[in-house]
Order: sequence, then structure tokens, then C-alpha cells
Amino acid sequence: MRFHFRQFTPFIAFLVFCCAGVSNASVSGGPDKKCTACHATAAALQSSPTAHKPLREGRCQWCHKTHGSANANILHAGGGRDLCVICHKAQKPVEGEKENHGFSAKGECSVCHASHDSGRKNLLLKEPQELCLSCHEPIKNRLALAHPHAAAVDSCINCHNPHPSASEHLLKAKPTDLCSACHEIAPWQKPMRGWL
Ligand code: HEC
Ligand code: HEC
Ligand code: HEC
Ligand code: HEC
Ligand code: HEC
Ligand code: HEC
Ligand code: HEC
Repeated sequence: MRFHFRQFTPFIAFLVFCCAGVSNASVSGGPDKKCTACHATAAALQSSPTAHKPLREGRCQWCHKTHGSANANILHAGGGRDLCVICHKAQKPVEGEKENHGFSAKGECSVCHASHDSGRKNLLLKEPQELCLSCHEPIKNRLALAHPHAAAVDSCINCHNPHPSASEHLLKAKPTDLCSACHEIAPWQKPMRGWL
């Protein structure tokens, strides 16, 4: 699922040779002083260990154009999602698929992720559990009942993928495989043990 450098090598080549009036030297060199000289906030984030790797490395022009763009924030592509999936193909939602996370097929990566830095791992806007529960009120209420499942209290992403998944309900595996990953025998089989 991780993003690999090789995947966007053609994209870099495209930027270097076609776009934004960028010289080879400024793209392949170190931090891009042409941008950070004026943009102190972005410049300060370059030393943050949680910042987005391309920002840390000063690759401002991998995402931003230099002189102007039809997109807000002079970005290469409009909408957080269109920009992000240029490099992150694994998280790309497939339009109309039931496996998509309800809203993200139409929506944005930015409901969950920052673009530059969030101060958290994976650029997340909130801690993972807090993030999920901020939208899933009915599930949050269930965790407050007398017998919550320890696995769900711990983390939703024990079982669910936040991104499009090949299984229904964004599950990381088929329900039976999912349960047996932590429970030696599926709990509902326990009463049957004596007869098997
Ligand atoms: C000479 C100073 C200077 C340099 C160099 C500079 N900028 Fe800017 N930039 C500004 C100013 C001034 C604004 C408008 C005020 C603001 O939004 O901060 C701006 C605005 C922006 C915005 C917001 C645009 C919007 O639509 O709201 C982005 C994104 C941006 N710059 C990116 C860059 C990138 C990428 C580079 C390097 C290629 C760069 N800037 C180089 C001064 C500069
Ligand atoms: C991975 C893509 C990406 C990279 C790399 C990146 N940006 Fe951005 N930047 C964005 C997006 C997307 C926005 C729109 C606002 C948001 O989502 O945070 C943005 C917003 C901005 C803005 C306007 C809002 C603000 O925070 O003031 C400036 C200025 C800016 N970027 C400068 C830079 C500079 C300078 C660099 C390099 C040090 C850089 N960016 C690297 C994606 C990127
Ligand atoms: C130009 C290519 C590019 C674009 C566009 C881009 N990213 Fe990334 N992103 C990267 C690279 C490179 C890494 C580091 C991958 C690694 O270390 O395995 C990364 C890592 C990440 C990570 C993992 C963070 C971490 O700490 O490992 C997240 C989350 C992420 N990007 C989200 C986004 C989002 C959201 C957008 C759209 C605003 C976006 N990316 C746009 C290149 C890009
Ligand atoms: C509902 C919230 C949510 C949305 C929407 C979302 N993400 Fe994520 N993303 C997460 C969480 C949570 C993680 C951390 C997963 C983990 O720790 O296993 C993550 C991790 C990542 C990573 C790190 C590698 C990985 O898969 O663990 C990348 C890259 C990433 N997201 C990109 C994106 C892109 C691109 C989009 C938009 C197409 C997007 N995300 C939309 C919640 C979200
Ligand atoms: C910005 C709001 C938002 C956030 C944050 C969010 N979700 Fe969702 N989620 C939705 C919406 C909207 C739907 C579709 C309607 C529904 O099923 O409730 C949905 C649907 C789901 C579904 C059901 C999918 C199906 O096909 O049955 C699961 C599972 C899920 N989300 C898990 C998560 C997890 C895990 C997280 C945290 C990583 C998370 N959600 C974060 C809004 C959100
Ligand atoms: C132990 C594994 C597991 C954990 C942990 C887990 N889920 Fe689920 N979830 C499932 C399974 C299996 C289904 C499908 C069967 C069902 O609906 O009960 C599901 C279904 C869902 C659905 C769609 C059906 C519905 O009830 O609305 C949502 C939304 C959801 N989970 C959200 C969450 C959230 C939010 C968390 C974190 C608090 C979470 N889940 C933690 C296994 C898990
Ligand atoms: C990430 C690990 C994990 C996964 C996956 C998981 N569980 Fe659990 N489950 C736990 C832990 C931890 C406990 C609490 C300790 C215990 O009783 O073993 C627990 C407890 C339970 C209990 C007893 C609850 C109580 O109140 O005593 C049941 C029933 C259960 N799990 C069913 C399931 C089912 C069904 C699935 C598949 C949908 C599942 N578990 C998947 C970790 C997990």
C-alpha cells in the first residue's frame, strides 16, 4: 500500500521538462529557496519530522505551479483528492464502488489529512480513533455501552481500512479471517467445541 518513489518518476520528469519554468537544477537540487525565502510558515515546517516528505525536501513545485494556475493555491490539480492521487494511486477511490468509504469517492483526502503537516503521523488531522469517532456517532454510542469490544475501543483500523478496500464495509479481511486474527477460535464456535 505504501507509496514508492519509482511510481512518480515519470511525473517528476514531466515537471522538470514541461512545467512551471523550473530548471533542472532547482528541482533536482536541495530545498527550493525560491519559495521558502518568502514563505516562512512552509519553510519552518521543513524541519518538522511529521511533515509531508516532499515538503521536507523542498519540492514545492511537485504540487504548486510557479506563475499561476486555474486551481486555488496555484496547485497542479484542483481539489485535494485529484492532486493527492497523482502520487498516491493506492488510495484512489473508484467512483460508484460500494467498497469506497461512503463520502471519499466524491470527497477529499483533506477531511482526514493535512497537505503540509499536522504534527501527527500520516499527516492525520486528529488521532486515528478520534478521527473515526468524530463522524461515526452511532458507533461512538455503542462503545459507551456496558460491553464494548476491546478491539473497537482500541482502534477502528484494527479491522477497517480508511481507504477503498476490496472487502465490504471497508474491512481489512473477510469477517471470519478478521476475527480469527486475534481470537484463536471464532467466539461463536466455542459452544460447539464439545461436539466437534
Ligand atoms: C518574492 C516573494 C515570494 C516568492 C519567492 C514566492 N512567493 Fe508565493 N506568495 C507570495 C505572496 C506575497 C503571496 C500572497 C500572500 C500570501 O498568500 O501569503 C504568495 C502566495 C502564494 C500561494 C497562495 C496562492 C493563493 O492562491 O492563495 C502559494 C501556494 C504560493 N505563494 C506558493 C509559492 C511557491 C510554490 C513558490 C516557489 C515556486 C513561491 N510561492 C515563491 C510571495 C512569494
Ligand atoms: C504534497 C503537495 C504539496 C507540497 C509538496 C507543498 N504544498 Fe503547499 N499546499 C498544498 C496544498 C494542497 C495546499 C492547499 C491548502 C491545504 O490543503 O493545506 C497548499 C497551500 C500552500 C500555501 C497557501 C496556504 C498557506 O499555508 O499559506 C502556500 C503559501 C504553500 N502551500 C507553499 C508551499 C511551499 C513554499 C512549499 C515547499 C516548501 C509547499 N507549499 C509544498 C500542497 C503542497
Ligand atoms: C508529488 C507527489 C506527491 C503528492 C502530489 C502527494 N504526496 Fe503524499 N507523499 C509523497 C511522498 C514521496 C511520500 C513519502 C512516502 C514514503 O516515505 O514512503 C508521501 C507520504 C504521504 C503520507 C504518509 C505520511 C508519512 O508520514 O509517511 C500521507 C498520509 C500522504 N502522503 C498524503 C498525501 C495527501 C493527502 C496528498 C494531497 C494533498 C498528497 N499526499 C500528495 C508524495 C506525494
Ligand atoms: C476517513 C479518513 C481518511 C480519508 C478520507 C483518507 N485517509 Fe489516508 N489515512 C487515513 C488513516 C486513518 C491513515 C492511517 C492508516 C494506518 O495507520 O493504518 C491513513 C494513511 C494514509 C497514507 C499512508 C499509507 C497508508 O495507506 O497507510 C497515505 C499515503 C494516505 N492515507 C493517502 C490518502 C489519500 C491520497 C486520500 C484521498 C484519496 C486519503 N488518504 C483519504 C485516513 C483517511
Ligand atoms: C468526515 C467524516 C468521516 C470520517 C472522519 C470517517 N468516516 Fe467512515 N463514513 C463516513 C460516511 C459519510 C460514510 C457513509 C455513510 C455511512 O455508512 O454511515 C462512512 C462509512 C463508513 C463505513 C461503512 C462502509 C460500508 O460500506 O458499510 C465504515 C466501516 C467506516 N466509515 C469506517 C471509518 C473509519 C475506520 C474511520 C476512521 C479511519 C472513518 N470511517 C472516518 C464519514 C466519515
Ligand atoms: C473487530 C473488528 C472491528 C472493529 C475493531 C471495528 N469494526 Fe466496524 N465493522 C466490523 C464488521 C465485521 C462490520 C460488518 C458487520 C456489521 O455491520 O457488524 C463492521 C461494520 C461497520 C460499519 C457499517 C455498519 C454499521 O453498523 O453502520 C461502520 C460504520 C463501522 N463498522 C465503523 C466502525 C468504527 C467507527 C470503528 C471504531 C470505533 C469500528 N467500526 C471498529 C468490524 C469491526
Ligand atoms: C485486533 C484484535 C481483535 C480482533 C480483530 C477481534 N477481536 Fe474480539 N476481542 C479482542 C480483545 C483484546 C478482546 C478482550 C479480551 C478477550 O476477551 O479475549 C476481545 C473480546 C471479544 C469478545 C468477548 C467480549 C466480552 O465482553 O467479553 C467477543 C465475543 C469478541 N471479541 C468477538 C469478536 C468477533 C466476532 C470478531 C470479528 C468480527 C473479533 N472479536 C475480532 C480483540 C480482537
